[in-house]
Amino acid sequence: MPEPVSTKSTYTMGYNEDFLQMLHWRSAETHARHLLPHLEPGLSVLGFGCGPGTLSVGLARAVEPGEFHGVDIERTQIDIARAAEAGGHSNATFHVADATDLPFENDTFDVAHCHTVLNHVPDTHAVLGEVKRVLKPGGIISCRELIAGSSFSEPAYSLAGAWETFTKLVVANGGHPQMGKELKTRLVEAGFVDITATASVDMFSTPEAKAVLDGVITEWFFSPKVMAAATASGLATHEQFDAWKLDQEKWRQHPGSVGAIAFGEAIATKPR
Ligand SMILES: C[S@@+](CC[C@H](N)C(=O)[O-])C[C@H]1O[C@@H](n2cnc3c(N)ncnc32)[C@H](O)[C@@H]1O
Repeated sequence: MPEPVSTKSTYTMGYNEDFLQMLHWRSAETHARHLLPHLEPGLSVLGFGCGPGTLSVGLARAVEPGEFHGVDIERTQIDIARAAEAGGHSNATFHVADATDLPFENDTFDVAHCHTVLNHVPDTHAVLGEVKRVLKPGGIISCRELIAGSSFSEPAYSLAGAWETFTKLVVANGGHPQMGKELKTRLVEAGFVDITATASVDMFSTPEAKAVLDGVITEWFFSPKVMAAATASGLATHEQFDAWKLDQEKWRQHPGSVGAIAFGEAIATKPR
């Protein structure tokens, strides 16, 4: 077994511009479709692990004049989210905070939402317990999380190996790359009820969408930092990275190529 890249909780993706392109491509309308039918004006919503707030804008709009509170552990992301808040949503407030230690009273929110956050926080039980504490009885939790094992590039060439190495990097950093399919089990364990589990896929097919996925792979996954972490810990070799770079170029040029990122979703209720 290779040594873990880090024994501490480390957010695998980091906060560089290339990965942020992927987050800026997201919105509540496209990435919280399973939640929107449950929102109505006047509800209070917590977005935990809100990142730069691109989903937050639409969630805040859906519950206006109810309050939206976004929290993220990383100040740079909250600064970006606050700039979006200045874009016209006076009901949105953002806080730097850890999802395992939320700065809110018991029974505060009607709804709590996360998107690709449980994938990265080592202690799922601690997050779900803390979110349950701040939800009102009868309030709902909504999650949408990556299923790395169902995500792919097509034509795949040798790129399935790149997806596998990415998966191992997330695990080595204490994360849960298959969380999207584990959501229902984790929510049952945390004491939530009335759980609806669904799934959906982000398909990268248009030139613009392919460029977003290609940017993350070429600028983030092939970055010296990620390659050094993967090779130093024995998760991949330099020769494999060289082959993946060539195959990523072939994927980029292929007129029929697509990429897919798979997600599991769940809505669940805090018992009354
Ligand atoms: C993949 S990003 C997703 C951001 C946003 N939800 C989205 O989908 O666009 C994961 C975010 O979770 C945040 N995060 C990781 N661990 C956290 C924790 N323990 N508490 C709060 N936020 C955390 C990271 O800082 C990062 O902004």
